[in-house]
Amino acid sequence: MNRTLIAAGNWKMHKTIGEASAYAEAFLARMREFQGLEVVICPPFTALPVLRDQFYQTPVRLGAQNVHWEIQGAFTGEISAPMLQELGCRYVIVGHSERRHIFRETSEEVGWKVKTLCSFHLSPILCVGETLSEREAGKTREVVQEQLLQGVAHLTPEEAQSLVIAYEPVWAIGTGRASTPQDAEEVIRFIREELASRFGQEVASGIRILYGGSVAPENVFDFVVQENIDGTLVGGASLDPGKFLKIVEETERAFLRKSGGA
Ligand code: PGA
Repeated sequence: MNRTLIAAGNWKMHKTIGEASAYAEAFLARMREFQGLEVVICPPFTALPVLRDQFYQTPVRLGAQNVHWEIQGAFTGEISAPMLQELGCRYVIVGHSERRHIFRETSEEVGWKVKTLCSFHLSPILCVGETLSEREAGKTREVVQEQLLQGVAHLTPEEAQSLVIAYEPVWAIGTGRASTPQDAEEVIRFIREELASRFGQEVASGIRILYGGSVAPENVFDFVVQENIDGTLVGGASLDPGKFLKIVEETERAFLRKSGGA
């Protein structure tokens, strides 16, 4: 199965509107058509309008970093799926470990967010991953399975087709200590098997599953060339347009290798 790969940048709480705009200019100056992959940038909410205009009619797609599960109402400080749709988002990150750990978001809440996004034809990038102590206690699969199954709990197989999963071991995020490509492939294969038991083999083999956690231009190829890894979710290295472009180029190189070319 040939899945379109994804190189996604998660800017977290970085870049003002002016900084985002300067980034887009620098990125687009060196951008070309890439084979077999989608480039996604997830800036803070405030930068979405300016980036929507700058990335209009380019191959770069926009994503947001969070959403509320209700579509409107008395939820001070929250943003809804139709609001993000209006801003030109195609993707929305949900269940990032920083949301789960700093803001105490539960897997149940994440499941409702995923459901709402799918009903607005926005693709969730559902993040799952274990902490260091959970890994050391041999609980990686258990933790990932719980986050995954609760995250997709309300989806029909048809809705699941637009899902993207990001496996991000918490101990690898922002630490410069990435997983090995082999360990990531093993967990990601497990995720695909779980998706197959939930939604059937055919749907599961079309769902994109990314790796995230200290991805850099130097290691991205070794991850994406793995059979089940369909791209990366990149934090720190996506903040620099030159580095992120290199990650995109390396993702294309992995695509060409996987599809039997160079
Ligand atoms: P990192 O972050 O690339 O800086 O490790 C990844 C993420 O949090 O999505």
